[in-house]
Amino acid sequence: MDGVKRKLLITAGPTREPIDPVRFISNYSTGTLGYVLAALARRRGYQVTLISGPTELPCPKGVTRVPVETAAQMQAEVVRAFPRADALVMSAAVADFRPLRVANQKIRRSGVAGSLRLWQLELVENPDIVAEVASRRKPSQAVIGFALETQGLLANARRKLKAKDLDAIVATRYFPKRRGQGPFGAEPVEGAILDRKGRAKTFRSLPKAQLAARILERVDRVLAERRSKSRPTR
Ligand code: CTP
Repeated sequence: MDGVKRKLLITAGPTREPIDPVRFISNYSTGTLGYVLAALARRRGYQVTLISGPTELPCPKGVTRVPVETAAQMQAEVVRAFPRADALVMSAAVADFRPLRVANQKIRRSGVAGSLRLWQLELVENPDIVAEVASRRKPSQAVIGFALETQGLLANARRKLKAKDLDAIVATRYFPKRRGQGPFGAEPVEGAILDRKGRAKTFRSLPKAQLAARILERVDRVLAERRSKSRPTR
């Protein structure tokens, strides 16, 4: 390990995009995998920063946690911390959209009896955080992303891997009818880890602790490859 502690930046959990002071748009992410990974990486000697959306989970011992709420806040913290990191593992479930306008006061029901009571919310797309930092990285920095899919697991993961210029992607299958099982929560997961070339190593019913260990092995491998390539030749 060259005597210097390697620095790992991990994002975890959902983001919340406010509609008004009392409501938001979000998703079912619990942050479990990112937190398990942060704890494991710390035990293995990494210096770990965990940029986390709202979760119920306690911060793992020895890990620096940066709490955020919105995708914009997560983007600002990732962009700030990434230059000092050796690797980024982007496990956060960033909300893809946010309300175009945020009301200062609680939005009220129309209360008009007999009306259609249709209420429309305009959304805009959030910036792609992992793609942005991957496009600006130094040759020695590793970037690993995630793909949560309800269909077309490998095809969609390969598309995201390429589009976002990632060193690897962790693709997990989500079964809409089995919300408690799979990627959102403490249950084992099914999916694949794909390398830069899109070659997949699949897994089934893998506990998150084991998946975290596989991801960390991948981080170590990618870092070793990137370092050997970025070392100046004499
Ligand atoms: N991601 C990100 N910024 C966003 C959206 C996603 O950095 N605004 C990251 C996620 O943290 C994850 C990867 O991109 O590492 C893929 O996220 P996912 O939601 O699966 O894919 P999307 O890019 O949203 O694509 P799609 O809408 O086609 O599913």
